Amino acid sequence: METCVLLLGLFLTSVHVTTAGSAAHRCFCQVTGTLDDCACDVETIDKFNNKDIFPKLQKLLSSDYFRFYKVNLNNGCPFWTDHSQCGLKYCAVKPCSPDEVPEGLKSSSYKYSEKASHDTEECEKAEKLGAVNGSLSDETRQALQEWKKYDDESDRFCMLDDEDSPESQYVDLLLNPERFTGYIGAEAWRIWNSIYEENCFKPYSVNRPLNPLASNSGDLCIVSPGLCVEKRAFFRLISGLHASINIHLSARYLLDENWFEMKWGHNVSEFQQRFDEDLTKGEGPKRLRNLYFLYLIELRALAKILPYFERSTFQLYTGQDTQDDQNKKLLLELLHVAKSFPLHFDETALFAGNNKEAMKLKEDFKLTFKNISRIMDCVECFKCRLWGKLQTQGLGTALKILFSERQIEAMPNTSNTNPSFQLSRQEIVSLFNAFGRISTSVRELKNFRSLLSKLKQ
Ligand SMILES: Cc1cc2nc3c(=O)[nH]c(=O)nc-3n(C[C@H](O)[C@H](O)[C@H](O)COP(=O)(O)OP(=O)(O)OC[C@H]3O[C@@H](n4cnc5c(N)ncnc54)[C@H](O)[C@@H]3O)c2cc1C
Ligand SMILES: *[C@@H]1O[C@H](CO)[C@@H](O)[C@H](O)[C@H]1NC(C)=O
Ligand SMILES: *[C@@H]1O[C@H](CO)[C@@H](O)[C@H](O)[C@H]1NC(C)=O
Ligand SMILES: *[C@@H]1O[C@H](CO)[C@@H](O)[C@H](O)[C@H]1NC(C)=O
Ligand SMILES: *[C@@H]1O[C@H](CO)[C@@H](O)[C@H](O)[C@H]1NC(C)=O
Repeated sequence: METCVLLLGLFLTSVHVTTAGSAAHRCFCQVTGTLDDCACDVETIDKFNNKDIFPKLQKLLSSDYFRFYKVNLNNGCPFWTDHSQCGLKYCAVKPCSPDEVPEGLKSSSYKYSEKASHDTEECEKAEKLGAVNGSLSDETRQALQEWKKYDDESDRFCMLDDEDSPESQYVDLLLNPERFTGYIGAEAWRIWNSIYEENCFKPYSVNRPLNPLASNSGDLCIVSPGLCVEKRAFFRLISGLHASINIHLSARYLLDENWFEMKWGHNVSEFQQRFDEDLTKGEGPKRLRNLYFLYLIELRALAKILPYFERSTFQLYTGQDTQDDQNKKLLLELLHVAKSFPLHFDETALFAGNNKEAMKLKEDFKLTFKNISRIMDCVECFKCRLWGKLQTQGLGTALKILFSERQIEAMPNTSNTNPSFQLSRQEIVSLFNAFGRISTSVRELKNFRSLLSKLKQ
């Protein structure tokens, strides 16, 4: 893994010198130049995404095929008993008694139960903000039932919900945009904490509180140069996803609210709290770089999956023929653009060697990622759970595409006894919508750059 060291070196040399000290500079100083572990740079991605990908993708995602996502938001958390204080429909009416408080929070349980009643108003607000709109027309419901499902468990990096479960419901993603929800504090940290602390490859065990208010805060999963490229990639994908979520909540922040309407928009200071170099002890700009890394991984998956969608038998079936054909055309256009990207990530650099060690690493990677998709069932705020599940599923699908042992063919080989590569509708919808989120984040960075450059300092 010599490349690790080499590419890490590039990171250090790529710091761009602009007007030092300015607000825009403090978030974006390192968000330029070559990205570590791949042969690509930030500027190329910005230009490519904002001009070629973003508009097409937005159009595609507004179609019926992509806007309705079937999801089980009631799976229940498999890891701990869910006694959330906030963002839940129960939070306002049923505060936890001390013996209900999870072990990890016991140390602060006194303060915690006191806080509960105090927070009722906050909770109700969070509930309203986090609510999911499940409305769906009858025709759509019928068409949806005709969509097929395949099974290929061994290839998956992600847990898929059982679409036939009565608990699974369709959600219209356009009616439930990812944005600020008021999901903050101990509950949100616990999710990120379990992801970074218990489900991230680490060079050594670090045990620091995730509470950002604690004095010694910083990133838990420290990525050391000694860590192999795969494990570093894993961390960067998660961190990129985390950055994306936090960009969205800053870009669609609840700025004002009155009896008649809610006003959503950019909150520059929220963005700075999360990404300014000085305010994050240097971590913010690195997190933004991880977003670009995630972008490259998902983009490469789209390029690779093109032949699968080129099959004449493949349909984006909703039952509306003309629209379905137009959507397929648009989808193929988008994928051809994705394929034309000049500096694709080279996935063969990961899990290389086809030996036992590489296989074991891949298996660990898969199991850990699957576990993270389970953790999403522990997110108390339903809106956050919805998008968290969708995005981990989408990334899991991208990884499946990149690392499946099965051939992705334009023509399924009928004489082949191995089942060929398949994607379920749920995987397709999550893949494109997840990429839509990352693509939107990259686009939003342009907005924040310009908003920040207008600030005094
Ligand atoms: C799955 C999930 C989905 C969510 N969806 C939404 C949503 O749709 N809308 C909404 O308003 N809120 C959402 N949240 C909450 C949001 O992500 C934050 O947790 C919350 O706003 C509190 O932010 P914070 O500043 O306390 O730090 P957090 O974002 O909670 O981060 C905790 C700690 O992790 C580290 N960290 C932060 N960012 C990164 C990064 N990119 N890479 C590595 N380490 C990092 C830092 O040490 C930080 O102190 C979601 C949370 C989760 C777990
Ligand atoms: C949910 O969506 C429907 C449109 O299908 C709309 O009429 C309704 O007002 C929405 N409800 C909320 C709470 O946004
Ligand atoms: C899965 O995640 C949970 C919660 O963080 C953790 O306790 C558990 O050890 C993880 N399991 C595996 C197999 O990684
Ligand atoms: C923007 O976010 C900050 C926290 O970072 C908050 O204090 C402020 O009230 C928000 N601004 C608006 C207009 O909501
Ligand atoms: C189809 O699969 C069979 C069996 O695996 C193989 O021998 C043959 O070469 C394949 N044909 C094509 C066109 O890939």
